[in-house]
Amino acid sequence: MQIYLDHGATTPIRPEVIDLMVDVMRSHWGNPSSLHGWGERSTMVIERSRLQVASLINADSEGVIFTSGGTESDNMVIMGVARQYPTPQHMIISGVEHSAIRLPAKFLEDRGWDITYLNVDRQGLVNAKDLEMAIRHNTVLVSMIMAQNEVGTIQPIEKLGQICRNANVLFHTDAVQAIGKIKIDVQSLPIDLLSISAHKFYGAQGIGALYLNPLMNKRDGRSLVPLTLGGSQERGYRSGTQAVAAIAGLGLAAALAEQELETESERLTKLRDRLYILLADIPDLIPTGASGAARLPNHLSFYHKNMDGRRFVRAMNQAGIAISSGSACSSGAINPSPILLKMGYSEFEAKNSIRLTLGKSNHEEDIEWTAKVMHQILCP
Ligand SMILES: Cc1ncc(COP(=O)(O)O)c(C=O)c1O
Repeated sequence: MQIYLDHGATTPIRPEVIDLMVDVMRSHWGNPSSLHGWGERSTMVIERSRLQVASLINADSEGVIFTSGGTESDNMVIMGVARQYPTPQHMIISGVEHSAIRLPAKFLEDRGWDITYLNVDRQGLVNAKDLEMAIRHNTVLVSMIMAQNEVGTIQPIEKLGQICRNANVLFHTDAVQAIGKIKIDVQSLPIDLLSISAHKFYGAQGIGALYLNPLMNKRDGRSLVPLTLGGSQERGYRSGTQAVAAIAGLGLAAALAEQELETESERLTKLRDRLYILLADIPDLIPTGASGAARLPNHLSFYHKNMDGRRFVRAMNQAGIAISSGSACSSGAINPSPILLKMGYSEFEAKNSIRLTLGKSNHEEDIEWTAKVMHQILCP
């Protein structure tokens, strides 16, 4: 039996999305910037997808820019905001951001920018008061991850965004893990910028989007300096001929995610909670992250008191079950998960972290079997 419980890493592309992408590659290969019919037809494909992505987050489609994925969208925000300023300023990010935010922020820090890394509690949650206190006269951007990839914790985005709006500071959220799993409405949330990646909700790898609130520029004239200069595609924010087929696939994946969001989230929550109960009697397996509404519906994470996370991932893989670990290997050494360290766990605990992320392919029997295998490995 093969069971995939690593949907936080990537999701299989939906068959309908593959079919559409192949169809678009065959029949809509024109350059969308061309003025002739071939170009016009490709442009129509892109614009339909823009509407579909916008609809998933209840945005004005004018605010959706296609990128190569979450990493590019995140980098575009941090570096694009920074490049508006001739001298270093101040930015605030949470201590539990994905490396696609953390590393560009560090890049700026090494060049004289002040970066505040907001502390989180043991569940991975930022305290709104801490954000309020951290904002300075020269704070130009706040970036807070909507749902943390390793521990599934969902930040109080409305509260955090409102603090930034009151202080007239740009607010970005990396919604890569949240999209398609929880309802996001950018009309009612005080969000200026939001990152999206297709391969986390059954679209293709290498395609994503950045939402820019169209009111952002109108409010105070601020915007992003593009990272790529060239043909001025995507309203000048992202030069480069668009990946028409991948964009079409992203649009369809977004439309299907929107249709199924409520029922699929409910189904995954039930399965996830069932697995949680089945694992509760394994000694020394300690849950991490938040619970209830402050946690992604498809997400479970733990650390084990005695087993290294990577060793456990390999043991599960031998049994045909794919999960992931928060620790990473570089130069032969195991690095503990920086996320768990920030949440107050010890190095030892952070090396032993594991993540199980459910998705469309999972059903009751996968959950029962996974629990059985985990008992066999951890309670031999
Ligand atoms: C929270 C978060 N942000 C950004 C990314 C990067 O997205 P992409 O793989 O599309 O570059 C990921 C991918 O795992 C993620 O989980």
